[in-house]
Amino acid sequence: MKKTVNTFKQAKENGEKLTMLTAYDYSTAKLIDEAGIDAILVGDSLGMVCLGYPDTLSVTMEDMIHHTKAVTRGAKEAFVVADMPFMSYQTSVYDAVVNAGRLIKEGHAHAVKLEGGMEVCEQIRAIVKASIPVCAHIGLTPQSVNAFGGFSVQGKGEEAAKRLIEEAKAVEEAGAFAVVLECVPEALATLITQQISIPTIGIGAGAGCDGQVLVYQDMLGLYSDFVPKFVKQFKKLDSEMKDGFRAYREEVRAGLFPAKEHTFKIDETVLNKLY
Ligand code: KIV
Repeated sequence: MKKTVNTFKQAKENGEKLTMLTAYDYSTAKLIDEAGIDAILVGDSLGMVCLGYPDTLSVTMEDMIHHTKAVTRGAKEAFVVADMPFMSYQTSVYDAVVNAGRLIKEGHAHAVKLEGGMEVCEQIRAIVKASIPVCAHIGLTPQSVNAFGGFSVQGKGEEAAKRLIEEAKAVEEAGAFAVVLECVPEALATLITQQISIPTIGIGAGAGCDGQVLVYQDMLGLYSDFVPKFVKQFKKLDSEMKDGFRAYREEVRAGLFPAKEHTFKIDETVLNKLY
């Protein structure tokens, strides 16, 4: 059944866990969709895991639209959320609405996600007013890596923890349908989950959240530049892939591939006329 914003609402009401994974292309989106995952996030993590940048800051609207289009073609039932890249919504409320609209009109996403709490509530309100569902994202917000001075756990001290609770309540009040909590202590994430009525989607925020999200390359062991503590590698596909690439190299060098079954025939009479 097609997943919608109502899937998120009902899951929270019924205490059912939501599942979300990232994808950036058609064939991966199709596999994730067929596996029954509720939602696919076209994350700006694209910049790191697909494009090889050290952070997410260089990702553009064009990058996001290009990859969102591919994902939405592969997702038949999953709810597709597209990330708003750095500087596509911070600059003004007008930019936020225009760029959110592009991800829906051109990328065919069902919702957008943006990072930040109180400081982006005006943008969330305006995008929601334009009938575009918004997923908020608080805690470790990677687009603020330079302001944070690195990727670190957020909300550990009393002030910071209280602030995070206020941020969660503010984005809910602004109209977000869900909020991602990234790198937040488990007990704090659980408390936030109990204090708001929209679902919390955790990444590095423990089991008390209403749902979980992971970057698919992380959970399949395909990205080894940096493996955060919160990642579980459900498969180790990096070695499987390298084995496949090596086997191909060996068979081509040994003349074993392509074999007869991989080739096409031509009629002998036609062939004879070519000599
Ligand atoms: O860009 C992304 O993949 C994300 C997730 C880590 C939540 O924002």
